[in-house]
Amino acid sequence: MTQQLTFIGGGNIALAIYGGLLESGYPPDCITVSDPSPEQGSVATAMGLTWHADNASAIETADIILICVKPNWVEAVCQELRGALDGQTLVSVAAGVTTAQIAQWSGTHRVIRCMPNTPALVKVGMMGLFSNPAVDPSTRAAVNSLLTSVGLTTWFDQESDLDAVTAISGSGPAYFFYLMEAMITAAKSFGIQDAVARSLVIQTALGAATMAAGSEHSPKALRQQVTSPGGTTEAACSLLTEADFTALVTAACAAAKARSEALSAN
Ligand SMILES: NC(=O)c1ccc[n+]([C@@H]2O[C@H](COP(=O)([O-])OP(=O)(O)OC[C@H]3O[C@@H](n4cnc5c(N)ncnc54)[C@H](OP(=O)(O)O)[C@@H]3O)[C@@H](O)[C@H]2O)c1
Repeated sequence: MTQQLTFIGGGNIALAIYGGLLESGYPPDCITVSDPSPEQGSVATAMGLTWHADNASAIETADIILICVKPNWVEAVCQELRGALDGQTLVSVAAGVTTAQIAQWSGTHRVIRCMPNTPALVKVGMMGLFSNPAVDPSTRAAVNSLLTSVGLTTWFDQESDLDAVTAISGSGPAYFFYLMEAMITAAKSFGIQDAVARSLVIQTALGAATMAAGSEHSPKALRQQVTSPGGTTEAACSLLTEADFTALVTAACAAAKARSEALSAN
């Protein structure tokens, strides 16, 4: 039987997930969106979904409740749902909010935590997941199937691993955008027009990611394959190696992980 879903918060990440579900053929009459904003409500109703401005009414028919509000709103939302919950599973996408906090605030241990990323908006998201043991395997499978409509999923046995997921795939799109930004700056410094520079860089990023995703070889092997001794690629990569590119990226990811750990500790 198709699960009845309620999204609490109808912003960017909720739209990415329910948009992906609708594109995959999920029935619109099985999705409810709860958001105080009439603008978010009209986005949902235009897609055939049910909209509520009140969270308690919105969960009455739900099997799975997806908490898609900003992290600082999660406690208030859980307290609000506390008296109205009736066996539903909560799936939270809020960064840095633990399943133990959600269980304490909501009164249910049926909690799954998900760390998505913004490419979910274009259906190539990467979602790291952790489930409280109180969630039964069939509900985990149902949540996994829902989320695969917007990208790939990976489940972790330790909730603390989600700090690493946040640092790598959660914040990761911004690192790639930063590299693109730097390469566009380089292209423009060589006299290439902005629009052309953007096209050269973005298509190259897309091509490299597509090759890496479809290849049996590691990114390192793919890099070595296109690096001829004494050639142009080697000239660039040698400079990056001398500047200890890997150590710099590792330190940047470690800073993101430490920040995620600090947010979870609050
Ligand atoms: N965007 C991402 O790529 C991304 C990645 C990883 C994790 N996340 C997590 O996803 C969550 C949502 O992020 P987002 O980018 O989708 O935020 P967003 O676009 O601001 O959406 C949140 C929505 O929730 C609504 N809202 C606020 N309080 C509410 C309440 N009490 N009940 C119901 N709805 C309420 C907001 O309405 P108002 O605008 O009127 O306040 C807004 O429409 C965050 O916790 C974030 O950590 C997002």
